[in-house]
Amino acid sequence: MEKLHLLLAEAGLELVPKELWSHPAVRASARRRGKKPGEILLDVALHHSAMVNLGERWKRGRPDIAHFCMLLALGSPLNKAGLLSLHVHTYDGRVIGVAPHVRLPRNYNLFLGLIEQLLVEGRVPPDASEPLLWVEEFGLKGLVERVKPTRVFLLSEKGRLTRCRELAAAIAREDRPMVVVGCFQAGDFREETLSLANEVVAISQTPLDAWVVVAKVLSSLEDELGLT
Ligand SMILES: C[S@@+](CC[C@H](N)C(=O)[O-])C[C@H]1O[C@@H](n2cnc3c(N)ncnc32)[C@H](O)[C@@H]1O
Repeated sequence: MEKLHLLLAEAGLELVPKELWSHPAVRASARRRGKKPGEILLDVALHHSAMVNLGERWKRGRPDIAHFCMLLALGSPLNKAGLLSLHVHTYDGRVIGVAPHVRLPRNYNLFLGLIEQLLVEGRVPPDASEPLLWVEEFGLKGLVERVKPTRVFLLSEKGRLTRCRELAAAIAREDRPMVVVGCFQAGDFREETLSLANEVVAISQTPLDAWVVVAKVLSSLEDELGLT
């Protein structure tokens, strides 16, 4: 295996959409942060009342899920061994590139500020020639065309039940495997995301949180590769 490409898909990570800018809950949280409503992240913990009529609201406004998953992936022995490339695909269709050596804030509020800067400016730091985080010019299909994964394993509770260590062995046999984990709270993958998959795999009969799935898959792969 050259490198594992981990794709956190359809992440509930988006700036507040225009239709909610004038809602009192959004205006209040933007004012507290000293920003415009369109410059803050949608967060169900703050904007629940504004999101009542928002389409697919169960998949949106959960930056905390991406935060957990990104910290787990970036801190993993696999990443420290230079064997991981992390990509974040957002609910509104953007693809975020992540430098493997970026030190993400552990603090959630600082993470929000960083991602807001990224989504407004397009890169962090804004004037760096080699940014730590950046918004790619292409979408999901463009990412797959660039990475050219040799096999795409999409993790879903509806997939074929497979032991994690068997999945890890199958991943390790590939040159450029891609693993896709849904970075949303509830609901199903879109057809566009599902269509990328060569295999749809369940690693448990129980529905799991996205970060548990990331932790289990990376840990099994590290065992398989003999990384400690
Ligand atoms: C909280 S779930 C999202 C809920 C959604 N019903 C689903 O599983 O598609 C977050 C993500 O974790 C992964 N996941 C959850 N349970 C899983 C399982 N038993 N096997 C494999 N992946 C799972 C999937 O990638 C899923 O999109």
